[in-house]
Amino acid sequence: MKSELSNEPMRVGVKASRAYEVLIGRGLIDQAGQRIRAVSNAKKAVIVSDDVVFPLYGALLESSLGKSGIESAAYVFYHGEDGKSLQNYASLLEFMSDMRLNRDDLLLSLGGGVAGDLGGFAASTFLRGIGFVQVPTSLLADVDSSVGGKTAVNLPSGKNRAGSFYQPMLVLCDTAALETLPEREYANGCAEIVKYGMIGDEALFDKIASRPVKENYAKVIRACVEMKKRFVEQDERDRGVRALLNFGHTVGHAVEKLSEYRVPHGRAVAIGMACVTRAAVRKGLCEESTAERLEALLTSYGLPCETACDSASLAEACLSDKKAVNGGVNLIMPERIGACRALYVPSNEMIDWISAGRKNG
Ligand SMILES: NC(=O)c1ccc[n+]([C@@H]2O[C@H](COP(=O)([O-])OP(=O)(O)OC[C@H]3O[C@@H](n4cnc5c(N)ncnc54)[C@H](O)[C@@H]3O)[C@@H](O)[C@H]2O)c1
Ligand SMILES: [Zn+2]
Repeated sequence: MKSELSNEPMRVGVKASRAYEVLIGRGLIDQAGQRIRAVSNAKKAVIVSDDVVFPLYGALLESSLGKSGIESAAYVFYHGEDGKSLQNYASLLEFMSDMRLNRDDLLLSLGGGVAGDLGGFAASTFLRGIGFVQVPTSLLADVDSSVGGKTAVNLPSGKNRAGSFYQPMLVLCDTAALETLPEREYANGCAEIVKYGMIGDEALFDKIASRPVKENYAKVIRACVEMKKRFVEQDERDRGVRALLNFGHTVGHAVEKLSEYRVPHGRAVAIGMACVTRAAVRKGLCEESTAERLEALLTSYGLPCETACDSASLAEACLSDKKAVNGGVNLIMPERIGACRALYVPSNEMIDWISAGRKNG
């Protein structure tokens, strides 16, 4: 007889400005109603989801909520980054007003990081804050965006320019949902997992090098969430150690921006990690083998290690990053697999660092 406990999800508790649990396992969408009931008295919920994810998992979620006495309505938007537009955010707030949600009610984000960021920002601002539950369905959202409380929408002048820190009250990572994830989105999520290995967990790095992430979802997601939790608990508002999570992201954001967001985030971060690591090798900050192992792992997940953008444009785009300080940027540099540190690069040295990070530089 199969033990009931074997179906129990893994749990990671996060103690930030709000304490909450991240549950990881199969079948959590189907159990959402009872899981949410354990932390909320809500009578109503708005489900925020895109037009790809909602048809796949929306009915299951609504039926589970209904069984626990939570009446729901869905706000479904066209998939993709444009979901984080101010217009979409405004119409979601109007939808919530029409539903007459009150402060005890809930917003559930069902989907990838776009549904999570948009929904989280709406939950944090509607009536100055209503209950918020993350139900991530992309690998990137499982390991990164659903945990930690950063919410955002995009402004015409830049990505994630309007946002808040607003922790969810529960995160349900249903690994069964990953079965429908397209290969390209799988690879994007894997880029962030490689990042966790690089910044703080060599064993995770080795684990995903020897066995594909998709054969071991729950344990890999748990390792990433545990690491993110540690950074968030120490530095919820991103003024210190949380910056290490930015490894590969300064150059990655530059690649995204120069491609006008045609290069997806995960692929851009892969390029950023490879570029910074090559630069670190050439500047004597880490061993050649660190760059070789990183590139081999990224390549094995079908991720790129170089971009066609020229170094001058890349350097300029890095310096316009929203995290730029005093004209320069704190680049997260690897020391070895599993350890990184921040290094301030002033604006006049940026081009030199980027050039050092080029494959044929
Ligand atoms: N808040 C944070 O801390 C944080 C961290 C990292 C990224 N982000 C944000 O997250 C966003 C990127 O997230 P993303 O990559 O999940 O993008 P996304 O939400 O657009 O999802 C990617 C694509 O996968 C589809 N999809 C998702 N789950 C699926 C499933 N189970 N089956 C089939 N298709 C599925 C979606 O419809 C979409 O087309 C960006 O806007 C980024 O800024 C936020
Ligand atoms: Zn990222």
